[in-house]
Formats: sequence, structure tokens, C-alpha cells
Amino acid sequence: MVNYKYAVIGNPIKHSKSPLIHQAFAQQEKVNIDYQRILASEDKFTQSVIEFANRGGLGLNVTVPFKIVAYQQCQQLNEYAQAAGAVNTISFDSDMSWIGANTDGIGLLTDLKNNQHQDLYNKNILILGAGGATRGILLPLLQENPIQILIANRTVAKADALAEAFSSAGTINSCGFEEIDTQAFDLVINATSASLDHDVPPVPDNIIGAETICYDLAYSDQPTVFINWSKKLNAKKSIDGIGMLIEQAAESYYIWRGFRPDTKPVFNLLRPAN
Ligand code: ATR
Repeated sequence: MVNYKYAVIGNPIKHSKSPLIHQAFAQQEKVNIDYQRILASEDKFTQSVIEFANRGGLGLNVTVPFKIVAYQQCQQLNEYAQAAGAVNTISFDSDMSWIGANTDGIGLLTDLKNNQHQDLYNKNILILGAGGATRGILLPLLQENPIQILIANRTVAKADALAEAFSSAGTINSCGFEEIDTQAFDLVINATSASLDHDVPPVPDNIIGAETICYDLAYSDQPTVFINWSKKLNAKKSIDGIGMLIEQAAESYYIWRGFRPDTKPVFNLLRPAN
């Protein structure tokens, strides 16, 4: 039987849940896939991708720290990869050229809309952080027509630059953490890497009201510090990024195979307690 070859490439890579997720999708499609983890050293990304394609590889997920170099190396880019300045999904054209997509933002949107039943139209959204993770989600969020997206960041100049770059796609503003309007937002997204230091950005407590949805792009087996913080402030819902992880994978799978997997069973696989 055919064994279709896919992989995720990154560094580190051994804890990636992508093989588990994609194998579950393949079972639904009733095909066999060989989905590997590829550990590449910083200077071997391009060579590793070429070798994978030469071995018959059909598609790759790209993770830290290679999403920007992947963007630079792809000959074709979809609109989300273009806007994100980063690629997390590569397919190969018939002439072996690389086609780059970015499914992170769509993954977040699908999780918010389909799994969490949140409509972003006319909503007031606050994003904490102005790095690659924020850039990756701005276009699909703005396409939902929120009232505004406010980007707050420790380094204000980076928030200003992102707001400027996306100003033609919708209403987008920027500020430092201390200057955030003291009002409850509808949706607060943590896109900083502060969780890695077990830190919550220094933001006023009253940005969280009884109707506020809090979403951490990060996830871990234990609740993140941002999730614990937002629960303490009685946010309406506190959601971590596991759903975004699963939904971005589903979108990648669809790009590669034209088959849209049902993601619900995969939630149970990754978080049996839910
Ligand atoms: P990523 O690709 O995960 O977005 P990044 O591009 O390095 O990674 O961006 C990290 C983001 O987290 C930045 O917005 C960073 O703030 P600065 O731009 O001021 O560096 C933010 N960040 C990281 N650690 C933080 C902390 N302890 N408190 C607040 N913000 C933090």
C-alpha cells in the first residue's frame, strides 16, 4: 500500500505532537502516511528540505526556528504566508519548487469560531506581544471585521510597526502595556513568549471583565501562567493554544491532501480529560 511521506522540521523537535495529530487525520482518510520529525541544525534547513523532497516527501510542517527562513526560500506563497512573513506549511510543485502557506492564523480562527463558538465581528480585541506569533494571526483576525485590534507590547516600536504594516486591512492600534485603555476587552490574546519565563505581561487587571474571552497561543500539559491569571480575574473563558495547534494541522492536511479532517476526536487524543 502507498505510504505518503510528510514531516515536521524544527529544532528542537522531539516533543512535537504533529506526528500524532496527522496520523489521526490519516486514519480518518483511510490512507497510510509516514509522518516523521526532522531535527535540522540552524544552517541545514534548506538542505534538509531538499533531501526530504528527493526522498519522495510530499509536504512539511515548519516550526521554530525555521518559519522565517522557510518564507524566504519558498518560490510561491499564499496570502497568509505573505502577510505573516513566515511559512509553517510547505508543499512541492511538480517542478519541485516550494509552495509556502501559513495556517497558524486560520488555525486560531477555526478554533475560536468552530470550537469555542466566538464571533469576532464588531468585537474589541487586545493582543499582547508584537513578535512573529502576532504577525502570523493579524490578517485572518482583521478579516473578521472586529471594531479594533489593539496591539500592546513591551517594546512599543514593534507594536507600532505591526499596526502600521496591517493598517490597510482594518482598524489596528498600538501601545505599551501601561497605556492600554482601562476597559474590558471582548477578546484578549496572549502572543508573548512571556509564559516561557512563567511571566504574565504587566497589564492592568481591568482589561478583563465578566464577558472577556482570554486566549493563550501557548499551551502545555499544565495551565499556563496567563490562563491561571485570567481565571483568577474571572474571565468568561480561558483557552489555551492546543485547539489552534490541532486546527492549524488540519488546515495543513487539507492543503496537502484535499481532505478536511474532523478535529474533535483529536482533542480527546491530546487532552483525554476534556
Ligand atoms: P514569537 O515568534 O513567539 O512571537 P518573538 O518574535 O521573539 O517570538 O516575540 C516574542 C514576543 O514576546 C515579543 O512581543 C516580546 O516583547 P518584546 O518585543 O518587547 O521583546 C514578548 N515577550 C517576551 N518575553 C516577555 C516578557 N517576559 N514580558 C512581556 N513580553 C515578553
